[in-house]
Amino acid sequence: MREFATFEERLSAWTTEAMKSVFDLGGCDVNLGVSPTNNDKFGDYQCNAAMVLTKQLGKAPRQIAQEFVDAAPLPDFVSKIDIAGPGFINFHLSNDALAAHIQALENDRYLGTEQVGEGKKVIIDYSSPNVAKSMHIGHIRSTVIGNAIDRLYRFLGYDVIADNHLGDWGTQFGLMLVGYREFVNEEALAASPVEELERIYVASYNKSKEDPTWRDLAKAELVKLQQGDAENRALWEKFIELSIGEFNKIYDRLDVKFDLYRGESFYNDRLPKMIRTLEEKGLAKESDGALIVDLEEDGMPICIVRKSDGGFNYATTDLATVESRIEEFDPDRIIYVTDERQQLHFRQFFTIAEKIGLTANLVHVWFGLMRLPEATFSTREGNVIKLAALLDEAESRALEMVKSSSPDMPEEQQKDLAKAIGIGAIKYTDLSQNPQSLVTFTWEKALNMEGNSAPYLQYAYARISSVYDKYHAQFPDSDLSKCSLKIEHEIERRLAIKLSRFPAAVQAAADNYRPNIMTDYLYDLAQIYSSFYQNVPFLKAEEGVRESRIRLCRSTARTLKQGLNLLGIETRERI
Ligand code: ARG
Repeated sequence: MREFATFEERLSAWTTEAMKSVFDLGGCDVNLGVSPTNNDKFGDYQCNAAMVLTKQLGKAPRQIAQEFVDAAPLPDFVSKIDIAGPGFINFHLSNDALAAHIQALENDRYLGTEQVGEGKKVIIDYSSPNVAKSMHIGHIRSTVIGNAIDRLYRFLGYDVIADNHLGDWGTQFGLMLVGYREFVNEEALAASPVEELERIYVASYNKSKEDPTWRDLAKAELVKLQQGDAENRALWEKFIELSIGEFNKIYDRLDVKFDLYRGESFYNDRLPKMIRTLEEKGLAKESDGALIVDLEEDGMPICIVRKSDGGFNYATTDLATVESRIEEFDPDRIIYVTDERQQLHFRQFFTIAEKIGLTANLVHVWFGLMRLPEATFSTREGNVIKLAALLDEAESRALEMVKSSSPDMPEEQQKDLAKAIGIGAIKYTDLSQNPQSLVTFTWEKALNMEGNSAPYLQYAYARISSVYDKYHAQFPDSDLSKCSLKIEHEIERRLAIKLSRFPAAVQAAADNYRPNIMTDYLYDLAQIYSSFYQNVPFLKAEEGVRESRIRLCRSTARTLKQGLNLLGIETRERI
């Protein structure tokens, strides 16, 4: 058993072994899982082994449970085992074992989380905005959710490659090239590059609607670009550079970092070969001049892989991208994070990838759109609130809050705090919902000090830190490590149990690609802490008890900080 094994792991191993010693299981390899209870009436963990084995042993579950409890000696970390309902075996952890476990975790970098990802490589394709278009709120979810998944996987020991698959190729660049030469306003471009590029695109697009010569010109320039014409190439590169510069400003504010910025264009050279592969495997066929893959048997509409004008499609690029990623990185998994509207696209190209033998573990994590009171955000349409503006507003609203709650704080510190709270609030709102539900964003909810929000947790963290500071001010000579952690009070117990379940929350959030499992955990933890804080004395408790409680405080603070960090949310010691 690993050094910081969780109670769940210890109990599962113990139950499996004990069952084998009490009953004749015929040498078959049973793994009898144990899961946490949500009601301490039923102990801390429960096991349904008696139900699972009823057929094999030919006995009623309750009888199996009873015989088991009578015969198996208690493991040393359990104070009581009892039976409930149809035959659940309930475990009550011993307070001493619980205390020893929390104390041991103080020395573990990962707070008891197993490094299950060691030696495994995962590519996470997220954010992935389109060049020459502003990154608006529709992209924030991919960035924020993708980054949380990225952080969770790294924490679990995976070798993560965060890849920003920029939309940097496509027919729109014909219009961009001619539009730029005709409409560019250099001043505006310098001041706000992406906005100006967007304006150019719209102007050029509108002109193409009325003017067929313009359309032809755009097409001709596109062909030149595709053929590597130096001048067009340079201009296209400029569009990309300007866009990435602007995107990076947002990423910096969000504290998001990528390992790769490989746009679609990176895979261009592979597209003709991909088409040949599809043809050779008998998958692609002509239809009205286009080349398609028929996916009727798989219950999906046809997928166009080459348009009638010879241009390749999004799916073709994604297939070539998978091929390239497998060749270069041999990943154990590739995770894509986009909004729900791309579900069919991913299902289609995942299916085709499998058919041509690109056997990677491909996962599409999709999320619903976010609705703001002012508008629903979707790509390309007008009437969007720019992401940068949203972040600005978050910070300025947070600054108001900080100014009124900490009027005496130096201004620089107020601003720094407001940034952590404002950005944290936006991220948390996004992360704390089931990703697949439609999120309605309101400032009231995002910045709510009482509820399930980033500021609530950040304040909780700061309050715990201040208890710790006060303790040191009052007892400057004390040495916490000399007083062991003890669990006596019921609320201490609840807090310790919750702390011990941090690894399970991290694992479940990562396995299910649902950062909201993590936010739920942290919110619960903060609430349990708050009732701990209200129900038992800390600084006024007798020596020994006081130190033990301070240690519990410290573990709670550390767990909150680490948990928020896994969501990309910053904490400050003083608020
Ligand atoms: N650029 C696309 C968009 O903005 C997202 C790309 C997602 N990644 C991928 N490999 N298809 O909608």
